[in-house]
Order: sequence, then C-alpha cells, then structure tokens
Amino acid sequence: MDKIKEELENLKHEIRENAYRYYVEDNPTISDAEYDVMFKRLLEIEEKYPELKTNDSPSNRVGGEVISEFNKIQHKIPMLSLSNMFSESDIRQFDRRIKDILKTENEIEYAVEFKFDGLAVSAVYEDGIFSLGSTRGDGTTGEDVTTNLKTIKSLPLKLRGNYPKHVEFRGEVIMKLDSFKELNKKRAENGEKIFANPRNAAAGSLRQLDSSITASRNLDLYIYSLNTDIENIKSHSEAMKYAETLGFQVEKNRKVVVGVEKLYEFCKYWTENRKNLNYEIDGIVIKVNKFEEQQKCGFITRSPRWASAFKFPASQVRTKLKDIECQTGRTGVITPVAILEPIVADGSVISRATLHNQDEITKKDLRIGDMVWIHKAALVIPEVIAPIPELRTGNEIPYIMPETCPACGEKAIRQPGESALKCVNISCPAQKLRKIIHFVSKKAMNIDGFGKEIATMLYENNLVTEITDIYKLKYEDLENLPNMAEISINNILNAIKKAKKRPLKNFIFALGIPNVGEKASNLIAEHFRSMETILNAKYEDYIFDDGKTAIDDIGNITANSCIKFFNENREIILKCGELGLYEDLPQKEETNDVNLPFIGKTFVLTGTLSSMTRDEASEKIIALGGKTSNSVSKKTSFVIAGENGGSKLTKASSLGIPIKNEAEFLEMIKS
Ligand code: IVH
Repeated sequence: MDKIKEELENLKHEIRENAYRYYVEDNPTISDAEYDVMFKRLLEIEEKYPELKTNDSPSNRVGGEVISEFNKIQHKIPMLSLSNMFSESDIRQFDRRIKDILKTENEIEYAVEFKFDGLAVSAVYEDGIFSLGSTRGDGTTGEDVTTNLKTIKSLPLKLRGNYPKHVEFRGEVIMKLDSFKELNKKRAENGEKIFANPRNAAAGSLRQLDSSITASRNLDLYIYSLNTDIENIKSHSEAMKYAETLGFQVEKNRKVVVGVEKLYEFCKYWTENRKNLNYEIDGIVIKVNKFEEQQKCGFITRSPRWASAFKFPASQVRTKLKDIECQTGRTGVITPVAILEPIVADGSVISRATLHNQDEITKKDLRIGDMVWIHKAALVIPEVIAPIPELRTGNEIPYIMPETCPACGEKAIRQPGESALKCVNISCPAQKLRKIIHFVSKKAMNIDGFGKEIATMLYENNLVTEITDIYKLKYEDLENLPNMAEISINNILNAIKKAKKRPLKNFIFALGIPNVGEKASNLIAEHFRSMETILNAKYEDYIFDDGKTAIDDIGNITANSCIKFFNENREIILKCGELGLYEDLPQKEETNDVNLPFIGKTFVLTGTLSSMTRDEASEKIIALGGKTSNSVSKKTSFVIAGENGGSKLTKASSLGIPIKNEAEFLEMIKS
C-alpha cells in the first residue's frame, strides 16, 4: 500500500510539474501522449483506492459532479469594474489625472496588460489548496463554481513554492479561438445551437451544472490580480511574477511602461496586432504599477481610480447588403435602412443599419447585393462602412430613394441645401404613429409597458391616433385586442394614469418638436418655466433684436422650429394641459424686500458677458430685487452692455439711460 501511495504522490507531482511547464513556462518537456499515460494511471489508482483521492488531485480535472443549482457566494472584497477609455486623448487625460492626484510631473510607471473578453472569477486558496472558486456575479455576490473551475488545467489545484496561508486570485476564464471554432464545428454537426462568440462559449461552459461538460470544453484561466498581505511585494508587476511562481498562468505580453507616450504606443500596437492572438481581447488594461501610488489614487464608487481600460475600436465584419428599405420617422424624414444578412459583431446580431440619406448611399457607392464591411459605431450603433468592390459579381443594383413616402404614398420633398428627404403630409400615418411611440417613451412621458407594439396595435385599430387619445383609453377598448390579458390591460391603464404631471422638460421633449432634443427641452423649460409662457413666446423672446440668444445654446433654427410648432399645435397642447400631463416650474420669485438694492429697478442685458451667462445675470438681478426686460424703454433703469452689444445701446443712449459695462455691473451686484 505504501508503494501505491508513493506512486500516486509521484504521479500527482509529475502531472502538476508538467502542467506548470506547459501553461506557465510555455515550455513543455514531454509529449501530450506521455502526459495522457500518466493521467490514465492516476485515474486507475484512484478508482481502485478511492480513499487515496485528495482534493488537490489532478483527477478533479475530469469533472463528474452534477449539482442542481449554484450556491451564492459573498465576495469578501468586492469585484470591481473598470472605467473605459476610447481614444488617445482619453489616455492622456487619464495620465494627467494620475499626475495631478500624485502631485508630480515625473512620468508614471504603468503596468499594461490585455483586457480579456471572458468571465471574471475568483479563486481562493487555503494552505496552498484551491478551496473556493466563484464567478464575479454583480461584483458583491457571485456563484460557487469551485468544481467547474477545478476542470480548468491552467488553474493550479495546489500552489507551488512559497505560498501564503490564505490568498485570493482573480482572473478571467476564456476560451481560445481554436477551441471555440472546434466546439462550434462539433455543435453544428450535432445540430446544436452554436455560440455567438468565445465569451458566450466560455460563460456557457463554466456555468454548467454537470462539471464533466465544463471539463470537455477546454477553458483557460489568466490571472490579473491577487489579494494577500505580503510585505516585500510592492507593485502589480511583482505580484504577477509571484503569481507565476505559485503556478498560475499570467499573460506574457504584459509590460511595465514609463510615461504616457510608451503607454499609448502599447495600446496602439495591440490595436493593430491583436488579430494575430489565439484569443479575443477587447482592450488594454492600464494600472498604476506601484501599490503605494495605487493607494494614493483610491477608488470611485465601483472602480479604482488607479486603473482604466482602453477599449479597442469595434471590430469590422463582412456581410451582404440584401436590400434597402425606406422608413418615415416622426418628423417626416424618410430614412433608408440597410437590410443585412444577419451577422454577429461584438457579441450581438446585426441585421439592419441606417444609411442616413441618399447622399451617404451615393458617397459610399452602396449597391443592393454588395458585400459590405459593417461595425458598431461607438460600440453600439450598427453602421455600414463601405462596400467591397472586389467581391462584386456585376449583378449589384445601384439604389435611388423613391420620390414618394413609403407610408402614405404622397410626394416626398428634398429642400435645396438639405440632405433629408421629407414627407410633408401632416396626416401621414407613419409620422403620426412614430410621434405616439416617441411620446410614450422613457425619456418622454415614460408610460411603462406602452411600447412600440402596443402603440402600433392601438394606432392600427384606430384607438389612438393622436396623443390625447391615450388618456381616453378604457378597459373595453383594449379587451378585444389580440394577446391582451386582463393583467396587462390593467397594467397599461395604470401606467397611463401614473404618467401625468411629468416635469415640463419631459413634456416638451415628448412633443417631438423638430430640432428639439432632450437638452434643448430642458433649456426651454428652465428659461420659460410655464407652458403658457412658451405658447405665447415670440421670436424676440428667443433671439433679441441685437441677434443675441435669450437662452444659451438655443439658436435661430431651434427658435423658429419652436415658434412654428407651438403655433400649429396650440390646441392639442392646451388639451394636454387640461388633462394635467405636465407640471410647470415655479416662477423665479420677485421679492418685495425694500432693503434690497435693486428694488424697483429694471435692467436690460445686451451682448455677451464674460463672467456669466445671461440667465445667470438675470438670476442675480432678481435675487437683488430687480427685474429684467428684453427691450429698452423709458422705464429701463440700466442697460448692461457685454461684448458686442447691439442696437439696444443706441436706443439707451438716445433715451439717456445709464449704460454699465461688465466690470461696473459686477461691482453693482457685489454683496
Ligand atoms: S483588473 C480593480 N485586469 O474587466 C480592477 N480586469 O471592468 C479590476 N478584465 O470584470 C479588474 N482583463 O473581469 C483587470 N487584465 C485585466 C482584465 C480585467 C479583463 C475584466 C474583469 C472585469 C472587467 C473590468
């Protein structure tokens, strides 16, 4: 028996050493076949003498335990995330911030390494033995995947060398590209669903209740941090070297660079060269190397200030442009949309992409039937980059947008100087429906559960053809519609009831005024404060007679668009008011405190002030008891002249009204 024990110990040792040479040193000294022979013998002995099987035996790699669900694990130290950077200037800003925090102009030492696109895990070791493995989960609570992690050969079941009593490692489980391709090939042959990308394959493989499935999937683990108290380790790079001596695989292209130039060089190099790697990475993680400096930088809520991830530009993929369809939006703009052979890019399926307008199609020379390059702009929006002319067969058809609206068939118009083709029929059904969809959306009236499908169904059944109809809906109206259960009818009716008294800015946004987005809606609400004032506002209330804007960032185009819209839609907006759909903002208080210096004084502002906006200046005047007006008259007490003041100054001089420059004004409001 002692002899068997000795053989077993030797086998475990040899297998462990060879796995280390293979994974960590990248320098195997025996063939795969020799390794397999040893492994088979180990299994044989353990089968015959189960009492000799230990927790750290390499035989755990084959899996076999089946569980019904994963236990939840609380992470002792939360698993954080990283902030993202997308450009050279982001990297330079990051470096600047670190220098500012550390109060130094010396170049910073950074550890740079790959950002693996896999699944984050934690591996805890007690007395050198792997004792608990978990997924990141939401960062605080993960799942116990100890048994499954044991099947990953690059995770040591027993630490080598001089290990601490308690230590936690963190890293990423990934599937290399060759294993991924092989797995998908097998799955396709067996008629199983294929994985969209290596990340999903790795996650799907690790989260298996039957660990033998995980064992069959050829996963890998790369370590990128460790938590323990060891005094003589003073930097991230030293910690990673130490992790290697303990038996872990740490990615070998990692580096320590000094200064932002070298930092950017590393990011740029791997942006271009990552395609040659046998696994997917989606960026470079940059960490301040020295622990002492990391500590000074600290954390912001859920991520460290001393680290950040530079994300590569989204990758390009090829697919076929099957067709181009036109869609009419809520403002009547007709947009061509590319219908693509569905394809996965950056983890999701893309089948449509906007082509914006005819000029874009012409400029890119896109033809129906073309093979095209696509990617996700800003990592989310599918975009057709260009056709691949070398792959043309001669059957591709150039595309010209129709001259009529695809929804109502009326003639579409393109104004000279504009790129958009527009349907100007105000009763165009597509526009009306899109307006309703926009009106109920989250940032607008936020009617929960009232999405595109419901809006379309109600519109097509003539139940909601304009926005006020939404608030007249009754149970009986909805009950005969297909797929409407009692509970969902009640949910919708309740959500409608709740979606009243929305802040003025959301209501303005909900109206879908051309050229008025979220930001402009907010500015207009803040400035005018009530719908009544907005409905009565004239051009001069937006743009003063000296050409200056009353509201910063609201120029001529938006002003005209608002005036036109509020004129044309007065009736329906008044109806919305009666229904109580929005809440005005409180008026800025005028005060009667006779002790205030500007009591009874009226100010007119003209030109641009360098120290504040016009709105801020008005607020100051009101706070000191004064009033502001847009036009100069005999009642004006002072005209405040900023840079490039206009005709108001001439008028003020002719009426003998005192004109104050910015410095004098600042003196007046000094309190
Ligand atoms: S360090 C406190 N290093 O990226 C720093 N994370 O948003 C925590 N990731 O879920 C992470 N490669 O799983 C670090 N070399 C690397 C990484 C890496 C991939 C993942 C990590 C986490 C996410 C952070």
